[in-house]
Amino acid sequence: MKTIDELEVAGKRVFVRADLNVPLDGAHNTTERRITDDGRIRAAVPTITKLAERGAKVIVASHLGRPKGAPDPQFSLAPVAKRLGELLGKPVAFATDTVGDSAKATVAALGDGEVMLLENLRFNAGETAKDDVERGAFAAELASLADAYVGDGFGAVHRKHASVYDLPARLPHAAGGLIAAEVRVLKKLTEDVKRPYAVVLGGAKVSDKLGVIDHLLEKADRILIGGGMAYTFLKAKGSEVGKSLLQEDQIPAVTEYLARAQAKGVEFVLPVDVVAATDFPDLKTKAPAHPVTVAADAISADLEGLDIGPETRKLFASKLADAATVFWNGPMGVFEHPDYAEGTRAVAQALVDTPAFTVVGGGDSAAAVRILGFDENAFGHISTGGGASLEYLEGKTLPGLAALED
Ligand code: 3PG
Repeated sequence: MKTIDELEVAGKRVFVRADLNVPLDGAHNTTERRITDDGRIRAAVPTITKLAERGAKVIVASHLGRPKGAPDPQFSLAPVAKRLGELLGKPVAFATDTVGDSAKATVAALGDGEVMLLENLRFNAGETAKDDVERGAFAAELASLADAYVGDGFGAVHRKHASVYDLPARLPHAAGGLIAAEVRVLKKLTEDVKRPYAVVLGGAKVSDKLGVIDHLLEKADRILIGGGMAYTFLKAKGSEVGKSLLQEDQIPAVTEYLARAQAKGVEFVLPVDVVAATDFPDLKTKAPAHPVTVAADAISADLEGLDIGPETRKLFASKLADAATVFWNGPMGVFEHPDYAEGTRAVAQALVDTPAFTVVGGGDSAAAVRILGFDENAFGHISTGGGASLEYLEGKTLPGLAALED
């Protein structure tokens, strides 16, 4: 992979594919939404700054959310352009389309060392099209805006999308500093891993994590399971889980993993207690909920598990304290509500406390550590890629990295 230092950029229009897909709140039908965690924007700044300092005309592009291939104001990148400008300390021109009149005019007006942002790439159906020709046509339109390409959106490298996969083939290209740094760290989790290697997985759906669990059974020494996905494991072990999240159809796969782990001597650690309630909390008002703590094998039919309990927090911390390498992906509960944030906070604290090399794998868990007020520097690495880091650990070929190889 070429680095940006090897790319000629002075006076050139350089297309930077970043991942500025940040969480937003506020009314869904407006562009006036508030960024709740700007970690991904901050992570994009060093490469953009470097290119601008070298005299490039920097065209930044990203997706935001999952619009359906047409403009949709709730997914506008306008708030991101504003925040990016604040972080860069200079104005960021915003094109209100991707390859239309606004994009062309904004690029044409861009001076050396100036920065602009295109509107959400997913407002064009060609970005995510399965059809190679349709994707290629959009990539060709994007290519006509620029002279060179820098891939720096690590969070999106697992997507075979026009701006990630097809566009670099059409322009001289290089990997930005963020992608280079992410790959360096993730290599430490796949090659010559320091042991014991503990992995903490959470989040809602076990189906999203099957691939990585399958792979980690060959690599990790301990796998700790929390979050919504834990209930499918608890059910597979014969516990009743009440109204908790359950993926019934995944029980056979989970049962097989538990058996394989036992055969291989991989320790699988499941919650021993959970914080539960009769109703899901109101995340908008954050009104006090009425949680109860119950044993993980005694969740009554009217209860929904919403966080790991205090005994589980201690248990998980003890399994991380003497690890040499820790990877964590996925919150332990509904951390957005203060009554269910303690499990996620405890795991974050355990990562801070352990002498192990720690990696927080993107998405919700990365946002959670910042929203809960942890110092980012207390972790070995906080990845900007959730799905991307999981797929990397699964050993999959990531289209956005493969495209930067040659
Ligand atoms: C992410 O948030 O994981 C990346 O930005 C990719 O987003 P996607 O899952 O919508 O492709």
